Amino acid sequence: MPALVLGPMLRYVDASSASIWVETDAPCSVSVVADGHAHDSRTFTVHGHHYAIVDLVGLTADVESYAVELDGERVWPEEGRPPSRIRLLPPEGPRRMAFGSCRTSVPHDAAHVLTHGEDVLRAYGGHLMTADDDEWPDLLLLLGDQVYADSPSPEMLEFIRARRDDEPRGEIADYEEYAELYRQAWSDPEIRWLLSTVPTAMIFDDHDLRDDWNTSHTWREQMAATSWWRRRVISGLGAYWIYQHLGNLSPAEREAEPLLRILREGTGDGGGALDAFADKADADTSSTRWSYARDLGHTRLIMIDTRCARQLTPGDRRMLDPVEWQWLVDEVGKPADRLVIGSSIPFLLPEGVHSVQNWNEALCDGRWGRVVARLSERFRQAVDLEHWAAFRRSFDDLARLLVRVGKPTLVLSGDVHYSYVAKANAGRIHQIVCSPIRNPLSPLLRWANVITQFGVATLVGGWLARSARIPRPPFRWRVTDGPWFQNALATLTFPDRATWYQSSGNTIKEIASVQIT
Ligand SMILES: [Fe+2]
Repeated sequence: MPALVLGPMLRYVDASSASIWVETDAPCSVSVVADGHAHDSRTFTVHGHHYAIVDLVGLTADVESYAVELDGERVWPEEGRPPSRIRLLPPEGPRRMAFGSCRTSVPHDAAHVLTHGEDVLRAYGGHLMTADDDEWPDLLLLLGDQVYADSPSPEMLEFIRARRDDEPRGEIADYEEYAELYRQAWSDPEIRWLLSTVPTAMIFDDHDLRDDWNTSHTWREQMAATSWWRRRVISGLGAYWIYQHLGNLSPAEREAEPLLRILREGTGDGGGALDAFADKADADTSSTRWSYARDLGHTRLIMIDTRCARQLTPGDRRMLDPVEWQWLVDEVGKPADRLVIGSSIPFLLPEGVHSVQNWNEALCDGRWGRVVARLSERFRQAVDLEHWAAFRRSFDDLARLLVRVGKPTLVLSGDVHYSYVAKANAGRIHQIVCSPIRNPLSPLLRWANVITQFGVATLVGGWLARSARIPRPPFRWRVTDGPWFQNALATLTFPDRATWYQSSGNTIKEIASVQIT
């Protein structure tokens, strides 16, 4: 009898449809039973793993409890857990969204709580099991580093060591290991239940593939010279497509995906087709668009791929290649009362750090000669100078675009391992950062960050940028709240109150709450 390996995960939900993703341990038919109606799909197979995504369309009311059947046998809900329900998106848009980034999935024992803190997403799941309806989010945004392919947990390392003894040691190598990495990340009972009943929208950051992913052309050359990177990037992007990307899409968008049609119509294992797709996505950024946009009532959500769509030509590097940039311009211009932009890496850094990244980019491009360029590239990789500021042309383009469009804009970000709010002094642009969910900086690094990012960089950043003749950004901004360094998950309650939570056991506790005006 087939069984669930992972899921069900409630992914795309709008005012009348919902999509549910599962991984099973054998090919089978998958039925989602909601309000007496069965919605069916068949699994497709990739690298020996079996997946289905079932669309429930034409829904007219919330579903109080859905069930999953594999070949007619009920496998979900699990005994002793609250029902998995489907709350449709209100036509006027979300009442509340939750968001965060950077979550390592290490064990929850005392030793790991000491090194990694508590898992706030897990605590949030536990909290929602008994929370009132008005506390529920309509959507959970996972803004990057959902899995750490470059620093696996002890259990994951055991899995790797039992299979092989070759490069890359202590890191994920192929699709099989990625599948296990995702299974471990999303199998805690509270997490699994949370993901079965709160819709999610996701985008990757570097660690889903590897630290510093696509920071520069030099970085790509260094990785290409290893024996193992090509297999890793093909597997990482393929697994991302299966585990994260497919559920980001509406049923109509997914139907239009040629790869999904190939996998569903094929009779054998579609691993080869997935690998070919992923290989092309890495080699030719314009062949695939990982970014996506959704209308959430009057709010337009735009999730930007700030990693894979990069153009890394030295001297003309851009966060988004021209095709992706034009897509963003079009999406930002569509009718909406407000924009919520998900960008795994922050757009508005502390101003001094912004200037340092501008300066480093100019030096990497040879402003002060070739020797300095080589040293600057090392510095870029060593201290993660890879945010929008390190792609100055793209930062300036986006800043001008958002001011020109003039809509209230909230940029939601993660990655930096502290949380804060920044406000631009032009347009109506705010940025809200929530990081990490579970991967805190050590106390020493917190102080180092405060001193360098909010102290030294503020003092010398502007001077460095001027010394390299870098033009001033189109507008100025300031950090109005934060930084907070503890593990956190944030919620955004419309209209526009952001609240950060930390956890203690299964309870969550407010860190800060800020009215965004
Ligand atoms: Fe990151």
